[in-house]
Amino acid sequence: MTDEAPFDVAIIGGGPGGYVAAIRAAQLGARVALVEKDRLGGACLHRGCIPTKALLRSAEALLESRDASTIGIVVKDATVDFGAMMAWKKRAVAQQAEELEKLIAWRKIAVFRGEGRLVGPGSLKVGDDLVATRKIIIATGSSPARLPVPGSNLPGVLTSDQILELETMPESLVIIGAGVVGCEFASIFSALGARVTILEVLPRILPPVDEEIARRFQQVLRGQGVTIHTKASLQEIRAEGDRLRLLFALGDEQQEVVADRVLMAVGHRPCTDALEEAGPALEDGSVAVNERLETSVENVYAAGDVTGLYMLAYVASYQGIIAAENALGRSRRADYRAVPTCVYTLPEIASVGLREEEARARRISHKVSRFPFSALARAQLLGQPRGLVKLICDEPSGRLLGVHILGPRATDIIGEGVLAVQTGATAQDLAHTMHGHPSLSEAIYEAAWGIIDSPFHLRRL
Ligand code: NAI
Repeated sequence: MTDEAPFDVAIIGGGPGGYVAAIRAAQLGARVALVEKDRLGGACLHRGCIPTKALLRSAEALLESRDASTIGIVVKDATVDFGAMMAWKKRAVAQQAEELEKLIAWRKIAVFRGEGRLVGPGSLKVGDDLVATRKIIIATGSSPARLPVPGSNLPGVLTSDQILELETMPESLVIIGAGVVGCEFASIFSALGARVTILEVLPRILPPVDEEIARRFQQVLRGQGVTIHTKASLQEIRAEGDRLRLLFALGDEQQEVVADRVLMAVGHRPCTDALEEAGPALEDGSVAVNERLETSVENVYAAGDVTGLYMLAYVASYQGIIAAENALGRSRRADYRAVPTCVYTLPEIASVGLREEEARARRISHKVSRFPFSALARAQLLGQPRGLVKLICDEPSGRLLGVHILGPRATDIIGEGVLAVQTGATAQDLAHTMHGHPSLSEAIYEAAWGIIDSPFHLRRL
């Protein structure tokens, strides 16, 4: 790399890791190149966070319109127009994508359309063109994995990318994997009226979520008619006309289920194809980075799913910012003490910090407080009284160790918990802070009072 390099930093991949890194670099006055082979926005905008939330909105609207007569609004025959719903999802994505293109252009970031490849230390090619740059950030993301079982490539066996392109609504759907993706689609499709079956290999659903919260959500799903098999090991998928027969082991028993479509939601794999020729060191298939997001190759950084650390859009953006700052001479270390988990189910799940079972296993002296949304005015008014806020605090200091929420807009109100865990706030800090009324955030406030004394609006404890 020479001083004549036209770019200070070139970023491979225009998802939330890469494009946010590009904006941060531009904010710092750098000359920035952003290389993208598809559309800016990455999996999050085109195949993940955004389209799924558009569908979730439709599912929510359907459920709300069915209940609306209880609050004086009569909606006759609310039904699903699947085509129109998918068109809405497409519009929502297109609008965001258009805005993002404008934003990147406004920041004067040079976008190279094509496949970027790292061809030597500090050498980047897009197609046949060499892009001269001082620093490189790899942000090539991940793609959905498929299980290596017979039949996993049959038509009708879909990844989360493909299920978003369905043209007709399946009457029945089997979801393999009860992680975040599996549970989000289970919520959406069961609300829309599909018969949903989940097969999960572990003894419980949603492994990253507090056990009690996951158990309660499992009851909600079952209440909605979703069949959930845990400790279920898929063995084979067979085509049966237009339908699919799945053979699986449930303990010692052999079982089968037939469905119109199958969703494989068993995790994502980092995309490292762009690196083969001059790659930084990989660890378990991910680009290995240190806390400064530096790879094993000098002047080459990585951010987002390709690092295999969390595989979350907002972690990717956080890492992208740090990678950009470090590439441009600053010195920042990534701090993962307070990484929120946000699961967009019905109702939502969100959490941060230590789970109760972890606190117990690590023999941390702690106190737990729970506050149910059924006792909260705002949740009642919204017609969403299911769920709870659960706080885990260090004893005796009261420092917040974990916040776990199942309930309305959990993914919004977790922000307060994330800040509390990140800054080392105590339950008293939260309890002595005013919260608007009526608001959903009062559930956190009430639970905090449960730690230092007792909640105000709860008779039974
Ligand atoms: P995941 O790793 O979260 O969950 C996969 C699930 O499949 C696990 O519960 C696992 O035990 C199960 N599984 C694995 N092998 C299996 C088998 N043979 N049979 C049955 N079950 C099996 O992966 P997921 O849900 O596909 O998500 C991919 C990535 O995308 C994750 O890193 C996730 O965090 C991220 N993501 C985040 C979202 C959010 O933050 N709201 C939304 C969507 C994805």
